[in-house]
Parts: sequence; structure tokens; C-alpha cells
Amino acid sequence: MAAYDKAYFDKWYRHPEHRVITAAKTARKAHLALAVAEYYLERPVRTVLDVGCGEGQWQPVLKKLRPRLRYTGIDPSPYAVRRFGKRRHILLGSFGNLPDLEESYDLIICSDSLYYIPDDELIMGLHILAPRLAGVAFLEAYPQEADLRGDTSGMHPRSAAFYRKIFRNAGLRPCGSHCYVGPPLHGAVTALEYGAL
Ligand SMILES: C[S@@+](CC[C@H](N)C(=O)[O-])C[C@H]1O[C@@H](n2cnc3c(N)ncnc32)[C@H](O)[C@@H]1O
Repeated sequence: MAAYDKAYFDKWYRHPEHRVITAAKTARKAHLALAVAEYYLERPVRTVLDVGCGEGQWQPVLKKLRPRLRYTGIDPSPYAVRRFGKRRHILLGSFGNLPDLEESYDLIICSDSLYYIPDDELIMGLHILAPRLAGVAFLEAYPQEADLRGDTSGMHPRSAAFYRKIFRNAGLRPCGSHCYVGPPLHGAVTALEYGAL
């Protein structure tokens, strides 16, 4: 399994030959997630929880778009917390060990991290997070057939059916492009907006 240290982030985010995640790609995802959340909430996003946030690359993009929102990142990488914790409000933790949670969040993000999380931890974390979801969760997951580039060590290959089942069991309903609503917004998403249930 990867160490998620400086060398890891230098390689996959900054090295000209290896990088798979660019600032532009992160910005596109952040724009998408924010727009979907605000569409269903019918107001600006005020609170964001980003689990498996790494160096917190989403934080500056979200703060630029919505300077008043409160961002909290959580990641198990001591390096990321040491280097960016104060500046970007990142706490040490993991999907199965979520510190200092608030009662609810307008936007919950787990981007490019779900497949590194073991099954039990993933299911437990979803049941803790879903009841706290006031708006939209951006849960970026790919089925095992997807042609993924990047750090494949420590990945847990899973089917689309598996992800659908654990999201549904946690009370999350798909509304397209890696976005899901929780129970407060089930009624806001109409039949043709849902993906396969
Ligand atoms: C490819 S990086 C993604 C970082 C960031 N979310 C992004 O979109 O750029 C994968 C991240 O997953 C984190 N991670 C690994 N295992 C985890 C776990 N059990 N719970 C939460 N995060 C985890 C790693 O520390 C790493 O920061």
C-alpha cells in the first residue's frame, strides 16, 4: 500500500510523466459538485467535508468560488496534515475514523480515494456520513472494469453493483456524475435524474 507521503503526491500530482491529477481536473470536479449541490439545495453551499482529501487540492478552488464556505478535510496522511493542515483545515483521520464531525454538511466529497478504502471501513463510514448529508455527496468511484491510470497499488477492485448496493443501503441516491443525495433531498430528485438504483 502507498505511504501517501510527499513522494507519492509529487509523483501523481506534479511529476510531468506520472501525474494523473491536475489542478484543472480538480477544478472541473469542484465546479461540478458545487453546482449540483446548490441546484438541489437552492442556496449557496456553506459547509464542506472532504474525506480522503490528500493535500486538500479542492480547498482553494472551493474557497475561491465561495469565500464564505467552511471546508474541513480529513486524511490519514501525516505528511498532508503536517504540510497543509493549518492552511487548508485538514484533520488527521480516515473514512472509518472521522474526527470532529458536525451535525450536517451541504457537500461531502470523497474524490479519487474510495477504492483505497477496505470494504468494512467503507460501509461503516458511509453509514456515519449519509445521515449528515444535507445536500450532495460527490463520491467518485469506478468499477473494476474501468481502465484506471495512477496508483493501482492498494486498490480494492469492486463491481458497479457493489458500489450501488452499499450507497443505496446507506440511504444515498444517485443523481448523476458521481453525485448522490441523502434522505432530506430524496424527494427533490425526479425519476429521470436518477441513475440505475
Ligand atoms: C489519490 S489521493 C486523492 C486525494 C484527493 N481526494 C484528491 O482528489 O486529489 C488518495 C487519498 O486517499 C487517502 N486514503 C487512503 N486510505 C484512506 C482511508 N482509509 N480513509 C480515507 N482516506 C484514505 C490517501 O491518504 C490519499 O490522500
